Amino acid sequence: MQRLYPLPAGPTTAAESYGVARPSGPQGRPWIATCMISSIDGSTVLAGVSGGLSSSADRDVLLTLRLIADMVIVGAGTVRSESYGKPTKAGQRIGVVSNTGNVDTSTSLFTSGAGFLILPENAPPTSVESVRAGIDEVDLAAAVRALPGRPRFVHAEGGPSLNGTLASADLIDEINLTTSPQVIGGSGPRLMSNAPDLMQPFRLVHLLEDNGFIFSRYVRQSTGIA
Ligand SMILES: NC(=O)c1ccc[n+]([C@@H]2O[C@H](COP(=O)([O-])OP(=O)(O)OC[C@H]3O[C@@H](n4cnc5c(N)ncnc54)[C@H](OP(=O)(O)O)[C@@H]3O)[C@@H](O)[C@H]2O)c1
Repeated sequence: MQRLYPLPAGPTTAAESYGVARPSGPQGRPWIATCMISSIDGSTVLAGVSGGLSSSADRDVLLTLRLIADMVIVGAGTVRSESYGKPTKAGQRIGVVSNTGNVDTSTSLFTSGAGFLILPENAPPTSVESVRAGIDEVDLAAAVRALPGRPRFVHAEGGPSLNGTLASADLIDEINLTTSPQVIGGSGPRLMSNAPDLMQPFRLVHLLEDNGFIFSRYVRQSTGIA
């Protein structure tokens, strides 16, 4: 993996470039980072999943971010399509955001005790540990303040619908974007779906390259964090 920016350019690793300390998020909430991969033409899926866009270096970046994160949150749509299992980091919790609770809780994600649900207050009762915020749909700003164990660094793993709602609530502090050197075509979603018009400036922190894949890391400018 090569660092292209900041200069000087030179070899780096996912651990060196992504394993940096994060501050607390604004107003005492956790720092929230997303990690997504997109094709050159902006699709985040190939045949309904992201795996066909990825590479070993991309998986390394994702694993590095998971390892340093205190907690993972992910949309129910991604859990349903990407077969989420239990995390490799012992003790890590994964919060699954759902408005309906329509998630298979018999998978190892939940039977291991790692998974919990993030639901609206009026979602149907469930035997799985739940954080509840909002009526009819999850109020993410309230939910992230109520996460168990008060995590400092939350890794948000998509998908596009969850990203769109997080961005709409100005809850994304960092975007880690891998650009896969492929044109996919089709009508796959962009990084964020269903967000209203937003004008949120982000600052480029680094740009890496490996085997034609480009790895960019952006931080929300209003956080004032380097
Ligand atoms: N390229 C990548 O890096 C990447 C990363 C992740 C996912 N993906 C792909 O993205 C696709 C899934 O994305 P998606 O957009 O359909 O689903 P998603 O964002 O993973 O999940 C959306 C679901 O989250 C729940 N939800 C609850 N509150 C919400 C809120 N306030 N805002 C948004 N969602 C809320 C709803 O679940 P309920 O329906 O249960 O109520 C909603 O249907 C899959 O094809 C996956 O492979 C790609």
